[in-house]
Amino acid sequence: MTTFLISGGRGLIGKTLSKTLKMQGHKVYKLTRRPKRKSHIYWDPEKQSIESKHLNEIEVIINLAGANIGEKKWSEKRKLELINSRVNSIHFLRKSAANMPKLQYFISASGINCYGYNKHHEMTESDEFGDDFLSKLVKEWEKASNTFKEICPVGILRIAMVVDKKGGALNKIMKSVKFGLGSPLGNGQQYVPWVHIRDLCRMFVHCIDQKKEGIYNAANGYLSNKEFMRTISKKMKKPFFFPAVPRSILSLALGEMSTMLTESLKVSNDKIRKTGFTFKHESFDSAMADIVNNDN
Ligand SMILES: NC(=O)c1ccc[n+]([C@@H]2O[C@H](COP(=O)([O-])OP(=O)(O)OC[C@H]3O[C@@H](n4cnc5c(N)ncnc54)[C@H](OP(=O)(O)O)[C@@H]3O)[C@@H](O)[C@H]2O)c1
Repeated sequence: MTTFLISGGRGLIGKTLSKTLKMQGHKVYKLTRRPKRKSHIYWDPEKQSIESKHLNEIEVIINLAGANIGEKKWSEKRKLELINSRVNSIHFLRKSAANMPKLQYFISASGINCYGYNKHHEMTESDEFGDDFLSKLVKEWEKASNTFKEICPVGILRIAMVVDKKGGALNKIMKSVKFGLGSPLGNGQQYVPWVHIRDLCRMFVHCIDQKKEGIYNAANGYLSNKEFMRTISKKMKKPFFFPAVPRSILSLALGEMSTMLTESLKVSNDKIRKTGFTFKHESFDSAMADIVNNDN
């Protein structure tokens, strides 16, 4: 049995990941600004405040904390919030690790949208960062995570769009498809990398078990936005409409954030496969069938 601390553990990924770990017999504490249970540990990275209970038991930290990227338009103020809620909270966690004598491993979420867009090849972990906002954010986020290298091995997962009906982007898309509004975004040709929530949790477990160091793209694959929307509509037995939602409308509604939906990104998952990891869902069709037909 291993004792875990998951920062941001009450969020979308943290909920399924902690369930997975508990089912394997591990002890999981969630680090949260809004504690509600005995297994929750209070912290407020902005105020540099953390409850000391249980910290001396922690063997592995999983870092998932950060203000939600898709929740609000990216004003300059919001951009700072997105950066600080990730970077400063990791620095505070690193300081707090002085009270974690048993710490053996640190693994952090990162984002797949870090390579820039519209390149023609599949991006690998050794490709350069892009120069858009998300690329700069990821660079700072990963730099902060790597400060843990002073005390333990560090793993980083560059996570693609999480396919889970309980929240995140897919949940919002499924709601609009339910109301008959399934249509491609922009010209629909742009590639969308995706990861099934349970494959992502299995990937965390795989890296933790082997104490994998370094950066891994966390994506089952990618497909065009048109195919993505068509598959969701088909699996939900809902209509798939044309014409597409124009880029200009998305840009007006979402501002710079619309780039996440309209720009194209292909990523390679060879690096994680070469460590022996296998995906349960090789196609988006299989992932969506699972999402629509299963409740958890
Ligand atoms: N879901 C995706 O598709 C996806 C894709 C790529 C990368 N990621 C990254 O993976 C991580 C986890 O994703 P998720 O979907 O589980 O996110 P989520 O549901 O938004 O949860 C993130 C958690 O971070 C904490 N948080 C929010 N603002 C914070 C702040 N200002 N300071 C400290 N903590 C804060 C919150 O916990 P409390 O309110 O309990 O403190 C929240 O539950 C995030 O960093 C996200 O950017 C997610």
